Order: sequence, then C-alpha cells, then structure tokens
Amino acid sequence: MTVAETPSRDDATSAEVAISIRDVDKVYGQAESAVLALDAIDLDIRRGEFVTLIGPSGCGKTTLLRIIAGLEAPSVGTVGFGPRATDGPLRSMVFQEHGVLPWMTVLDNVAYGLRVRGVPKAQRLEVARSYIRMLGLTRFENAYPRQLSGGMRQRVSVARAFANDPEILLMDEPFGALDEQTRMMVHADLLRLWQEHRKTVVFVTHSLSEAVLLSDRIVVMSSRPGRIKESISVPLERPRHISEAQSSPEFAAVRGRLWDALRDEIELLNAQEASAPPIPRRSVWRRLIR
Ligand SMILES: Nc1ncnc2c1ncn2[C@@H]1O[C@H](COP(=O)(O)OP(=O)(O)OP(=O)(O)O)[C@@H](O)[C@H]1O
Ligand SMILES: [Mg+2]
Repeated sequence: MTVAETPSRDDATSAEVAISIRDVDKVYGQAESAVLALDAIDLDIRRGEFVTLIGPSGCGKTTLLRIIAGLEAPSVGTVGFGPRATDGPLRSMVFQEHGVLPWMTVLDNVAYGLRVRGVPKAQRLEVARSYIRMLGLTRFENAYPRQLSGGMRQRVSVARAFANDPEILLMDEPFGALDEQTRMMVHADLLRLWQEHRKTVVFVTHSLSEAVLLSDRIVVMSSRPGRIKESISVPLERPRHISEAQSSPEFAAVRGRLWDALRDEIELLNAQEASAPPIPRRSVWRRLIR
C-alpha cells in the first residue's frame, strides 16, 4: 500500500470547494518586531471533507483557523468560500479550553448559537436536546460546566458546534487536554456525528494518531513561518471504527509518513530558536508600510 500524496490545491471542481485559501501571508506586529506567522498558504478544502492541520508549535495553525473563521484578516491573500455557500458561511469554532460558558447550563450552552441566531425557543431546545442525547449528556442537561468532567465539557462544546448546524466546523486542539480513554470516547462521538452530518471540518491537533483516525486528508505545516509542506490523503474506509482503523496497515503507513514529515520540522524549530526570526516577503512589507 502506498500513501498517496495529494496536492494542497487539488483538482476539485469549484462546486466542490468549500474553502479556498489563496496565497495567504500573516504578519503580526510592526517593523523590527514583525513576526511572519504564515507564508504563502494555498489550500483548497472540499465540501464535506475532514482536513487536519498538523505542525510544530508556533507554525500558525491557530492563526490559519482564525483567518478561516473571519476572526483575523490575512496580511496578504484571500480566503474564499464555495459557490453554494454565501460570502460568509456559518462557521463554528471549538477551542481547546474556555469552550463553554460557565454561567449557563449544558442545555443553554448547546442551544446558545441557535439563540443568537434567533431560532425560536421550542425549536432550539429540541435541537439542543437531540445533540445532548447523542453525546450521552442527557442526565446533565441542567448541570453547570463546573459540575462536569473535562471530557464532558468538551462534549458540550462539540454538541454546541454541531447544534449550530454550521457549514464549516473549525476545531483547534479540542481534545488536547483529555486523557487517552476519554479522548477515545469523544473520537467515537465525533466520527459518528461527522458520518451523519458530513460537515466540512478543519481540525488542528498535535496528535499523529488523532489526525490519521479522524481525517480524510492531513496537511503538514512547516515550522515558522507556516508553509504547507505536505498534503497526505488518509485511505481508511468510512464509517471508521477506532480499533479496526488503528490496527490497519494503512493507519501505520500514514502515521509513519506523517512522523517523517514532522520530525524534520521539529528539528528545524529547535535550530530556529537560536537564530533570527523569519523575514516577511517584500510584498508583505509593502502592505505594512502603506
Ligand atoms: N496576536 C498575536 N500577536 C503577535 N504574534 C502572534 C499572535 N498570535 C500568534 N502570534 C505568533 O504567530 C505565530 C503562530 O502562532 P499560532 O498560535 O498560530 O501557532 P500554532 O501553530 O497554533 O501553535 P501551537 O501549536 O503552539 O498552538 C507564533 O510565532 C506566535 O507567537
Ligand atoms: Mg495553536
């Protein structure tokens, strides 16, 4: 079995493209203190595709997610959304921490996005309760986040993100703080929900196994400045069952390939720590100076 390398800007027809990132640079700060966080990112993500970004700490994964979410503007380049989406498709973001509102019950947390969008109460509670049930939280719908374990709080975040019914789901290390067993339970939930709803997902993780288990495609980023180093398709069948997927030769092959790509970058990052920060392209400087 060979692990297929796929171009980051693939040959999907424009009708299939949900997110199209063109030549994006991101610079933080000004003049001497400017930091080039992203460098010439070109990436197409198909509708219904589960794509994971992986790369060394500080390579710009969160920055790229925030740009896709519209929380941050690129310094150069554009992010466009597919023709069936409106200019600003609904995007929901799940963060590693602080994903739930501590003063609201589980039910109100899950229904929150729908409330903001003006969905009538009866309807939003029905939708919220259905996701709460799917994630095994029914007994806790009136509990407050402080009364839940970390795994349960992350389930609430995932339930809220899906209940919101976004076109695009952006997840930034959502399970990074969980112990392995809890993470496996939440993975099973996420695989099941994804299978049912086929959202376009952009997921960030530091875990190689998590990336392989969940993704259709893994985009490996270089150490800062973040560039796309490789785009690797995951040839595992869906629906996926965790233990079967993890024991397959395809899983081991993709994981090995990922590690080869990442090891170089981590070594580079260590070397970089001792040297000067990367310098933005001239075109970026021109914009900053204007
Ligand atoms: N608001 C900001 N102001 C200045 N610099 C920033 C800001 N946000 C991020 N950076 C810098 O941009 C670079 C990329 O940061 P980012 O948080 O996107 O990395 P990351 O890949 O998500 O890292 P990690 O894996 O540790 O979460 C880092 O060098 C960081 O210091
Ligand atoms: Mg980050």
